[in-house]
Amino acid sequence: MLATGSVLGAAVVLTGDPRWWGQVRRSGFSSARSASVATCLYRRGVLAFGRSHRGRLRLIRHYVPFGLASLAFTAALAAWVDSPVLFYRLSLATAFTGLILFGLSLAIGPFGLLTTGRLLPVSSDLRRDVGILAAFFSVAHVAFGLFVYTDIRLYFLYPVSEWPRTDFPLRLDDLGTANWTGLAATILIVVLLATSGDWALRRYGARRWKGLQQLTYWAFALVFVHGQLYQRMEPRDEHSLVLIFGLVVGSVLFVQLAGALKVSQIVERRRSLDRRTDRSLDLH
Ligand code: HEM
Repeated sequence: MLATGSVLGAAVVLTGDPRWWGQVRRSGFSSARSASVATCLYRRGVLAFGRSHRGRLRLIRHYVPFGLASLAFTAALAAWVDSPVLFYRLSLATAFTGLILFGLSLAIGPFGLLTTGRLLPVSSDLRRDVGILAAFFSVAHVAFGLFVYTDIRLYFLYPVSEWPRTDFPLRLDDLGTANWTGLAATILIVVLLATSGDWALRRYGARRWKGLQQLTYWAFALVFVHGQLYQRMEPRDEHSLVLIFGLVVGSVLFVQLAGALKVSQIVERRRSLDRRTDRSLDLH
């Protein structure tokens, strides 16, 4: 199911065309010819990017450099983590790449505002593309993360033998809370990914689309709680991972707060300018 969702989500995002949901199903997805679907997807994706000048620029300036750097970082981190369990290494590596890209996508707007003094437009390609890459790495992390421990049910439920004691099957201890918050973040991330194309912006209009995209803040907060709980549960030797986690979250908070302050200054300046203009009009 997760793989199906990812393929379909990737198709809609790459082609920017929601009709692709139906096309993927018709073009053999139902008969599980995943290789041919992947080829179709690749061709459609390349075509979609190659069709417009803007698409080519996004591919060359954003997806290729950020994608390659993210893959290199993931591979390096997976090789560096000291564990014999491959899924654990891949899960941790994709988790941190997703987290860093996620943080970057949240920092781009306020950073642009602080350096240029101007607000970014509702949709900025760089912010959107980094966000899309963050979503891909986060979904990859979920796919690996679900196989780190032997029984997927125990991520979300208490073992049956403990039900008489817990009175409630849903797992609400640290491990359960970490996984429920991870799941909630994943749902938000998939919604954000599926509505990140131009078609969604056209369909919902700037204001509603922007409102939808602000779910990113909730997703980031959930990822923070999720990651924090895992770090508490699994104290390990790699202190640099705790440092990276803190640095990413701290930088996002700092840049967001500084950006919010700057916005309020700009609004205040505009208001006082308006008041001055009104007063000078009254005098005439
Ligand atoms: C149902 C959804 C999720 C599950 C089952 C899950 C699973 C896990 C597991 C098992 C770990 C422990 C270490 C590891 O094996 O990697 C972990 C850690 C982590 N996860 Fe998730 N995850 C989910 C969603 C997410 C999402 C959407 C993100 C966004 C980027 C995320 C970010 C992280 C981070 C940053 C850590 C590292 C914390 C540490 O240093 O231990 N997770 N996750």
